[in-house]
This record gives sequence, C-alpha cells and structure tokens, in this order.
Amino acid sequence: MTAGSCRTPTAVGMLVISFCFDASFQQTAFQWLSPQVCGLCEGAVHNGTAVGDFCAASAGRVEGRCCLGKRALDTNPITGLDLSNCSLKQVQDLNEAATATIIDLSANPALNMSGSVFQGFTQLQHLMLPARLACPGGNASWEKTETRGDVRLCEGQRNACDQVGHMSWDCPENSLCAPFGPGFFQCPCADGHHGYKCLREGQFPLAEVLGILAGGTVVVSILLWVTQRRKTKST
Ligand SMILES: *[C@@H]1O[C@H](CO)[C@@H](O)[C@H](O)[C@H]1NC(C)=O
Ligand SMILES: *[C@@H]1O[C@H](CO)[C@@H](O)[C@H](O)[C@H]1NC(C)=O
Ligand SMILES: *[C@@H]1O[C@H](CO)[C@@H](O)[C@H](O)[C@H]1NC(C)=O
Ligand SMILES: *[C@@H]1O[C@H](CO)[C@@H](O)[C@H](O)[C@H]1NC(C)=O
Repeated sequence: MTAGSCRTPTAVGMLVISFCFDASFQQTAFQWLSPQVCGLCEGAVHNGTAVGDFCAASAGRVEGRCCLGKRALDTNPITGLDLSNCSLKQVQDLNEAATATIIDLSANPALNMSGSVFQGFTQLQHLMLPARLACPGGNASWEKTETRGDVRLCEGQRNACDQVGHMSWDCPENSLCAPFGPGFFQCPCADGHHGYKCLREGQFPLAEVLGILAGGTVVVSILLWVTQRRKTKST
C-alpha cells in the first residue's frame, strides 16, 4: 500500500514533464509541416528551373516554393527555395530556409535586401539574385560569381574562417572559428570552456541543470504523496 502510493506521485510527476516536452515538440513539428516562407508567393517549384532540377536530383518533395529534404526524426528541412518572379521588394527574414542548399531570388527587379539575411546559412551553395545586387559577403565569400543577363550567380560558399587577410577576426582564446554563412563566422568555445568569452573552465553545468529538474520532480512527488496520504488517512 505504502509502496503503491509512493510510486503513483512519481509517475504523475514524470507525466507532467513528458507532457511539457511533448507540447513543445509538437509545436516545432508543426512549424516544419508548413513553413511560411514556402507560401510567400503563389505557384510552386517547377521542373526545368534550377531549384526544380535540384529537388528532383536530391529526391526532395516540392511544397509551394520550397523543396523539402528528409532527415532524421521525421523533420523535413527546407533544402531549396525558389522565390523568383515574386515581385519581392524587401526580404528581412528567411530563417526558416537557413538549411537550404539552393535559393533563387532572381526576377524580382525591385528587390532590396541586406546580405545579413543569409547569416547562419551554412549549407548555402547556389544563390541567384537580381544582377543589381551583390553576392552576400562580397565576391571573396564565393568560389565563383558571375552575371547572366539579369541574374547574379553566387556559387560555392567559402569558409570565412579560412580567408586570407582577415586575421583580425580573431576569435577569443579558448574558442574556435566556425563558418556561419557567407562572410560570417562564429566563435564557439573549445572543449572544456564556456561562459562569457569562454573564460570559464570545466564542463557546461549540465549535471546541475538536470539535478534541479530532478529535484523539482522529487518536490512535486513528495507534495502529492503527502496530500494523497492525508486523503487515505481521513477516509
Ligand atoms: C518533374 O520531373 C520528375 C522527374 O523528371 C517527374 O517525376 C515529375 O512528374 C515532374 N513534375 C511535373 C510537375 O512535371
Ligand atoms: C512571372 O509571374 C507571372 C505571374 O505571376 C507570370 O505571368 C509570368 O509568366 C512569370 N514569368 C516567368 C518568367 O516565369
Ligand atoms: C535599400 O535599403 C537600404 C537600407 O535598408 C536603403 O538605404 C536604400 O535606399 C534602399 N534602396 C532602394 C533602391 O530602395
Ligand atoms: C563581383 O563579381 C561580379 C561578377 O563576377 C562583378 O560583376 C562585380 O563587379 C564583382 N564585384 C566586386 C566588388 O568586385
């Protein structure tokens, strides 16, 4: 009897926690199901276009203006985005497409955008822009740049950490340089360091966080156990 009533509250505590995780997981899964950027303008990715051919070759699935790939956990990251001929004037946030390998923004004559839109686009290898716009990060951030009629092509993203003449981009001590999109880099802390400017040594306090979480479960369990015990005693 005592053992039984002890187990139940723990189970309730676990249930509460797993529900919380479940809800947030479903939310992210839902976002993946219908990325807004794929419906930014009418039509779908067509065969015979750069993004269409890429999608067919990579066995992706076309959804609106996107090509969705397959990866673990049933998520479908955007691998290609075709926003050509969309009458776009401004593009401020393409973050949903940060996993894309190919992006086509050509045939938008009035488009005006900043290169920082592509910050974090580490997979981007093929970018098509109106010829008026420069390749993000400058020509030096790409293996090859060229203009074909009204289209500017930016091909093959270069690693910003490898670029000569940018030694002043020193990452702080105890950190590494990691590419973070055309012309961008990050300085993640090296193993065994964390915190502001990677000045703290030791493991990230994961054990501490888990400890607090587990502690929370124990408190809830004890509370439930005490209240339930009162109930059983009073009857
Ligand atoms: C596009 O091409 C693929 C293979 O080449 C074909 O299976 C598919 O039906 C085509 N889609 C359209 C809309 O034509
Ligand atoms: C651009 O889109 C318009 C309608 O939205 C369409 O009539 C036209 O054929 C398209 N042009 C190209 C080159 O796809
Ligand atoms: C483009 O945007 C920048 C700043 O966002 C602005 O200074 C510039 O005037 C714009 N150019 C055009 C042609 O709209
Ligand atoms: C970058 O390359 C393109 C085409 O290759 C060229 O038209 C443009 O002038 C170059 N830009 C700079 C700043 O060198």
